[in-house]
Amino acid sequence: MHAKVVVVGSLNMDLVARADRLPRGGETLAGDSFFTVPGGKGANQAVAAARLGASVAMVGNVGDDAYGLQLRRALEVEGIDCQAVTACAGVSSGVALIVVDAASQNSIVIIPGGNGLLSPESVQRFDALLQNAEVVICQLEVPPATVAWVLARGRELGKTVILNPAPASGPLPADWFAHIDYLIPNESEAEALTGLSVNDLESARKAAEQLRQLGAGKVIVTLGAQGALFVSEDGSQHFPATPVKPLDTTAAGDTFVGGFAASLARGLEEGEAIVCGQRAAAISVTRAGAQPSIPYLAELAE
Ligand code: RIB
Repeated sequence: MHAKVVVVGSLNMDLVARADRLPRGGETLAGDSFFTVPGGKGANQAVAAARLGASVAMVGNVGDDAYGLQLRRALEVEGIDCQAVTACAGVSSGVALIVVDAASQNSIVIIPGGNGLLSPESVQRFDALLQNAEVVICQLEVPPATVAWVLARGRELGKTVILNPAPASGPLPADWFAHIDYLIPNESEAEALTGLSVNDLESARKAAEQLRQLGAGKVIVTLGAQGALFVSEDGSQHFPATPVKPLDTTAAGDTFVGGFAASLARGLEEGEAIVCGQRAAAISVTRAGAQPSIPYLAELAE
């Protein structure tokens, strides 16, 4: 079976500590618990798309270490095609050092490891996956040249191209926008991309309009408890969030993106796809960790 959703991106092992609060600079803080779970924005989005009903292939790198084997296995058990997950000799797998506080906020430091070696040429070797896909997803935890190549190739092949610009540290290259069907930033990413302050629906709409003027087809700004704002050539539409008591927001954005992409691949309308992504993300924040927190399609109906 051809994978309808192809994710080109990162795989990380998440080393997660929970503490009452995040440590200040120079401070040693006693935490409450520690666990290790598979993560990485790319791999999380692949798992979300698979659990939410799509056939999925992952394109990415791990290191030739124990974490690399575990990261690959975590995708394989979800039925994700891992022929394009490559173990790079002599490098570590990507890791993310995550601290989650009592208010469920997190801070993350990532060490790219093998993710940093994902070159355009290494993705090109798996062009057949892109050719057979319907939806292609990228994030920003792999080299920008690779993201640029995948966006352009996805557009050339006529695929639905999604960019989740995470993590974002500034504006995107101008020549990327014309290749993007759906640009999906959260508030802080929308701020980094536009230089505008984004904290409510009106500021999110202004940022999304600016991103559309730069050439992005449609923009979805995810706003946590304030829901999501969808902006297209037809105007803007607010999708309120389901109220939940969050435990850990890690991978909530990834769950939204994967759920949205899977829904498009399953033939749902945009609005239905946004609601599916939101429902899945709402469940994910009530659970700890990245990939373990992502729900299955059947859970959305409960
Ligand atoms: O989006 C959450 C992810 O960001 C974590 O799983 C971590 O690996 C980092 O990439």
